Amino acid sequence: MLNKLLLVLWLAGPAFAKQFPDVDCVILHLKTVRCTWNGHGNLTVNYTFHSWFHNEKARACEMYLTSNRIRNGCIQPYGDISNRFTMFYTRLERDNRTSPKRHDLVKKVKLNPPTNLTVQKGADNVWFYWNQILPSCVQNEVCYRTCYKNWDCFPQTCAVLHGKQNYCINLPSDCSRYELKVRSSLDETCSASDWSDWSDPVIWISNNSTECDQGTGSTFVIIVCVLAPVILILMVVLLLRYERFRIIFIHVVPEQSLIPQDKIEPWLEIPKDLKQSFKASYHDRACPVQEYHHVSQGSV
Ligand SMILES: *[C@@H]1O[C@H](CO)[C@@H](O)[C@H](O)[C@H]1NC(C)=O
Ligand SMILES: *[C@@H]1O[C@H](CO)[C@@H](O)[C@H](O)[C@H]1NC(C)=O
Ligand SMILES: *[C@@H]1O[C@H](CO)[C@@H](O)[C@H](O)[C@H]1NC(C)=O
Ligand SMILES: *[C@@H]1O[C@H](CO)[C@@H](O)[C@H](O)[C@H]1NC(C)=O
Repeated sequence: MLNKLLLVLWLAGPAFAKQFPDVDCVILHLKTVRCTWNGHGNLTVNYTFHSWFHNEKARACEMYLTSNRIRNGCIQPYGDISNRFTMFYTRLERDNRTSPKRHDLVKKVKLNPPTNLTVQKGADNVWFYWNQILPSCVQNEVCYRTCYKNWDCFPQTCAVLHGKQNYCINLPSDCSRYELKVRSSLDETCSASDWSDWSDPVIWISNNSTECDQGTGSTFVIIVCVLAPVILILMVVLLLRYERFRIIFIHVVPEQSLIPQDKIEPWLEIPKDLKQSFKASYHDRACPVQEYHHVSQGSV
């Protein structure tokens, strides 16, 4: 009997000893709070979840997230827009045991990508518009790239805009299409958050592009990648041919004491002064100096 009890305890022991999984939370689009726990991917039991912001009552989970029919997260309402500036508390429970945790979510906000991305052609420019919540609090990063008819796309250009929900490309090139995408985050004045995901790209194709030569893009690539090196080589060849290169050999000057006096002459025509200095017996003329004595005023 005792053996059986011990066996049961031994089997159940690891389950009881098992640590509660860690809970991680993020505010989604200032609308909901998503908390997840995955226990390193090895969840085997369901926990009960409660959460609340400071000065609120504990709220039972309204919508559990599950994976393989095991709860691994919960979506709760976010409530007041300023809630992220207060503390957020969570509690996981199982078998009368609980695991509480305190969260600072002020910077843990993830906005949805901007919506309703649209394009409008102006006289000699193209305007892109989109929608995002809290325009005065949000910064948007815009990236676009230009693709030529044969889908050669050139590196994307990006810009971060504050408090604006539009972007203008001036003088768009005729034979091309433009792909533009936007993402958002709360800016510094509203306690910066991480970037949202990118919006789906919006594409604008020049009206005239059907009349364009198919090769516009590749011609440019050929110019850049093939012609440039050829021109460079040509220039080097021309330089070598027409520039007068003179190679001047310079004697290595032996050490002064190692050369006999008479060997100095044949080298080159060197000035007399310099020649003098090679003489082993040469001494600089001493410069006569006199010590200056201060003569006191009184003795005059
Ligand atoms: C999860 O459990 C399986 C067996 O149940 C084990 O093989 C695996 O190593 C565990 N993974 C982690 C991350 O603990
Ligand atoms: C865990 O909870 C989900 C619903 O939240 C339920 O469908 C599932 O059967 C539960 N699994 C276990 C092992 O209790
Ligand atoms: C949890 O506690 C309640 C009373 O506080 C008790 O009635 C219940 O049996 C306990 N459940 C477990 C699984 O220990
Ligand atoms: C986006 O466009 C849809 C219709 O296409 C409209 O119902 C919705 O209100 C727009 N959303 C915003 C944020 O303007």
